[in-house]
Amino acid sequence: MPSLAVNIDHIATLRQARQGTEPDPVTAAHMAELAGAQCIICHLREDRRHINDRDLALLRQTVQTRLNLEMAATDEMQRICLETMPDIICLVPEKREELTTEGGLDVASRIDEIRDFLAPIIAADIETSLFIDADPKQIEAAKATGSEYIEIHTGHYADAKGRAATKAELEKILTGIKQAQDIGLKVNLGHGLNYVNVMDFSQVPGINEYSIGHSIISRAAYVGIGQAVREMNELVRSFVS
Ligand code: PXP
Repeated sequence: MPSLAVNIDHIATLRQARQGTEPDPVTAAHMAELAGAQCIICHLREDRRHINDRDLALLRQTVQTRLNLEMAATDEMQRICLETMPDIICLVPEKREELTTEGGLDVASRIDEIRDFLAPIIAADIETSLFIDADPKQIEAAKATGSEYIEIHTGHYADAKGRAATKAELEKILTGIKQAQDIGLKVNLGHGLNYVNVMDFSQVPGINEYSIGHSIISRAAYVGIGQAVREMNELVRSFVS
């Protein structure tokens, strides 16, 4: 049965709108876990625009399920990762000017660099994942880095306009999932998934985890975080294994 990982960056974004202390992503993480989230995800960005170092330290102390640290492949993040010891990291591309992560990591052109970057993290017994597009050469490259997991970027599918374009993006993801599974990668999915479009994956076997933030936190504004997480959890846990 797939599991649900809840990204709490958006709670920190709201806090940073006033640069104060509320809402607190650490409290949100705890509530998400109480409602059934099996992993908490935060992205510590270079510019600290939402999650900051204090959040990460407290999340490491308080998260009882699993903590997934999304991060760029920089020396600073590698140091922080090894000091913090999350359960898993997900390497993402990062651009200062982007609103959110816009595309998958280009692993194919930097296989050796990423393999070397991951080596001390894997040696420290932290699991690793690479956020990549459903592109055959990126999937092959991800395998060559030694990463156990990939997270296939579902944002292009979520943003596609019209049935034909949506179907075409979905097909790419389904083909990518199969390719990754065939070469022994564990597959997570994430970005732009919501209570409606996630249903397109309900019959796709072998998905390890869904990484979802914006739609859950948006719904939480109406119904509370506990209910929002419970509703998404019920969906993904009803999907085929
Ligand atoms: N996965 C990755 C790698 C991301 O960068 C994000 C956005 O922070 C997500 C998943 C979650 O995306 P969303 O907030 O659209 O659900």
